Amino acid sequence: MNISLTEDQQMVQKLARDFAEREVLPKAKELDQDARWPKELVSRMAELGFLGVAVPEELGGAGLDNVSYAVAIEEVSRACASTGVIMSVNNSLVCDPLLKFANDEQKKEYLAPLASGEKLGCFGLTEPSSGSDASDMQTTAVKDGDHWVINGSKNWITNGPHADVILVFCNTNRELGNRGTTAFIVDKGTEGFNPQPRDHKLGIHAAHSCTMFFENCRVHESKMLNAEGMGFKIAMSTLDGGRIGIAAQALGIAQAAFEKAVAYSKERKAFGEPIAKKQAIAFKLADMATQIDAARLLIWRAAALKDEAVKNPKLRHSQESAVAKLYASEMATRVTHQALQVFGGYGYSTEYDMERHYRDARITEIYEGTSEIMRVVIAANVLRG
Ligand code: CAA
Repeated sequence: MNISLTEDQQMVQKLARDFAEREVLPKAKELDQDARWPKELVSRMAELGFLGVAVPEELGGAGLDNVSYAVAIEEVSRACASTGVIMSVNNSLVCDPLLKFANDEQKKEYLAPLASGEKLGCFGLTEPSSGSDASDMQTTAVKDGDHWVINGSKNWITNGPHADVILVFCNTNRELGNRGTTAFIVDKGTEGFNPQPRDHKLGIHAAHSCTMFFENCRVHESKMLNAEGMGFKIAMSTLDGGRIGIAAQALGIAQAAFEKAVAYSKERKAFGEPIAKKQAIAFKLADMATQIDAARLLIWRAAALKDEAVKNPKLRHSQESAVAKLYASEMATRVTHQALQVFGGYGYSTEYDMERHYRDARITEIYEGTSEIMRVVIAANVLRG
C-alpha cells in the first residue's frame, strides 16, 4: 500500500502552495475583514487550472486526479478558507456532475467554460425549509410545451451572487418522492431567476452566498441534466465528491492554525521559558498533529477511491467521503479551538489570523451535509454490512 503522493501530485501541491502563500495569504485578512469577493484570485485560479482540476483537458479542465484536487484545496484553504470553498464549489458541485451526467452538447456549452474558469457555477439544492432532508424540496418545475417553468427559492448558495450558471434541483413530481426530483442548468440573466444580495455569516466572509428566487422562470427542456427524476441521485453522488472538497478545506484551516500555534508556542515565554516547554501546551500540539495526520489520510483515501470510481462508475465512495468529512470538519473545530487557546488573549484578537481560522472552521461541520447527516450516512452503511 502506497500512501505517499506521486511526483505529479507533489507538483500540484507545490504549485498550489506557492500560489496560496504568495498570492492568497497576503490578502486573506483583508478579504475576511471587508467580506470582499476575491475576483482577482478567482481569475488566477482559472489560469492555474484550479477551477476544473479533475476535468479532462479536452473538456476545458486541468486533467488531473482527485487526490491532486484534494491536495490543492487543502493548500488554498490553508491560506484562505473562503477562496478554498469558491474553488471547491465550482469543481465538486458543478463541474463534477456535468462531467458525469451532462450530454455532449451541455458539456460543450457549460462544462468547458466552467472548468476553464471562463464561467463560474453554483449548486442549488438547499431551501429555506429543507437542508438535511434534501428530497423535501418545495421548488417545482412544471412542463409547458418544450420548456419547464421553475418556481421556488434556494438559499445559502455559495458563489450565488457571482455565478454565471446554477445547477438547480426541482420537484417535478411530488408523488414520486426523491424520484420526482430533476436537475436543470439555469443561466444567470434568465428571466424569473433572481439572485439576492449576499448573506452575512460567522466565517468564510469572502465566499459570498445568497438566496435565489425563481418566479415563473422558463428554461428550455435541453437544459435538463440527464433525465427527469434523476435529480436526487445526481445531488447525492455529487455530494459524495463535494464532501471530499470540504474535508480538504477543513484540513487546510486546521493545518494553518496548527502551524501558527507551534510557532507561537516557541516564541511566547511564561514562567521563564517558551510555553512549548510546558507539557500542557506540548500535549495540545501533539494531539493536533495526530488528528491532522489522521484527517489527511482519510481524505486521500476517499479521493483515491473517487479516482477509482472515475474508471469504474459502479463504485461508490459515499462511506469514505462521509467518514473523511465528519472527521476532518470536527477535527478542524477542535484544532482551531486548541490553537486559539495556545495563543491566549492574542488568539481572540482580530489582529491575528487565529480567530479567522476558528470562525472559518465551524461551517465545515454544516455545509455539504452536517456532522449529523454524515453519521446517518455512515451508520446506514455500517448497519447494511
Ligand atoms: N449516490 C447515488 N445514489 C444515492 C446516493 C449516492 N451517494 N445516496 C443515496 N442514493 C440513492 C439511493 O440509492 C436511493 O435510490 P433508490 O430510491 O433507487 O433506492 C435514493 O437515492 C434515496 O436514498 P436514501 O433513501 O438514502 O435517501 P434519504 O432521503 O434517506 O436521504 C440523506 C439521505 C443522506 C439524509 C440525504 O438527504 C442527504 O445527504 N442530506 C444532506 C443534504 C446535503 O448534504 N446538503 C448540502 C447542500 S449543498 C451545500 O451545502 C453547498 C454549499 O453551499 C457549499
